[in-house]
Amino acid sequence: MNDEVAPYLPEVEKGLHLIPTQATEHAGQLDHLYFALVGASAIILLMVVGLIAFFGFRYRAGNKAADRSNLPSTRTENRVEIAVLAAMLVAFMGFFAWATTLYLDSYRGPEPAMTIDVIGKQWMWKIQHPDGTREINAIHVPVDEVIRLRVTSQDVIHSFFVPAFRLKRDVVPGTEKTAWFKATEPGEYRLFCAEYCGSFHSRMLGKVVVMDRGDYQAWLTRQGSGQTLASAGKQLFQAHGCSGCHMGKSNARAPSLDGLYGRSVALDSGEVILADEAYIRDSILQPDKHIAAGYEPIMPSFAGQLSEEDILRIVTYIKSLQPGDWVKESVKENEGESR
Ligand code: CUA
Repeated sequence: MNDEVAPYLPEVEKGLHLIPTQATEHAGQLDHLYFALVGASAIILLMVVGLIAFFGFRYRAGNKAADRSNLPSTRTENRVEIAVLAAMLVAFMGFFAWATTLYLDSYRGPEPAMTIDVIGKQWMWKIQHPDGTREINAIHVPVDEVIRLRVTSQDVIHSFFVPAFRLKRDVVPGTEKTAWFKATEPGEYRLFCAEYCGSFHSRMLGKVVVMDRGDYQAWLTRQGSGQTLASAGKQLFQAHGCSGCHMGKSNARAPSLDGLYGRSVALDSGEVILADEAYIRDSILQPDKHIAAGYEPIMPSFAGQLSEEDILRIVTYIKSLQPGDWVKESVKENEGESR
């Protein structure tokens, strides 16, 4: 799990790239608009510069035309002006309609094949697939499928930016935004954070890996092996030393947790409380709140040490424990030791 946490550093592409690769249809459509705008601007620029040069030459000091131009104008025609203004209006309203269509399209999108959650956090991208597969700084997706992204932030404002898809969404804490793309070419595409978000903003990099259907299925199967929320929670449970007190033989210091979920727990205060998700969560973050009868209040709080996701994983693990689970585990361990 941890080997994927290192920031993804993309290889430096050789040569001059004025525009990024086009990896979606939308990217191509957007580039057409972009080049049309650049082209229209170039035409207008040439007209203005050209006319300045032409008039500068024609009406230079000492030329006959310059003398004539000092006489009062007798011209009353304005058809040329009206024609120019009307042409401009039509052209730019055309650009407006074109751009608006593309803009709305980038938000609405077609019916998605799947929704992937993206959580921005200082300084990484955390990804969760529909089947529970998690990734950091990488999103694996199948080619030619409409992928919908649900993006949010855990701390400050970030911005999800994949240049090859011409896709950028500000990621604002407390809000949930959506984006979509349909990649047309298998490959790896860079993912940037495009909003300054602290010291390591520049390292908040990732990649989108677009795979053939077959490769994607194979990848998904590999990921699915055992990394459920509960098994991730189990790893955390051991890594944070919870198992040292709560597991197996050492029940003198802390209550055993197998079969805890849904059970009634007698408290030191004489109350009885139902061990639901909130109780498990409280016990991790504010262990002094409910002391189980017969135990000392010696458990440290884990508030601030666990992310929201880790808490969810550990709670899921504890919920999954059936009565007697840990006896089986310790038997397995003992067999391992004696071998
Ligand atoms: Cu996150 Cu910049």
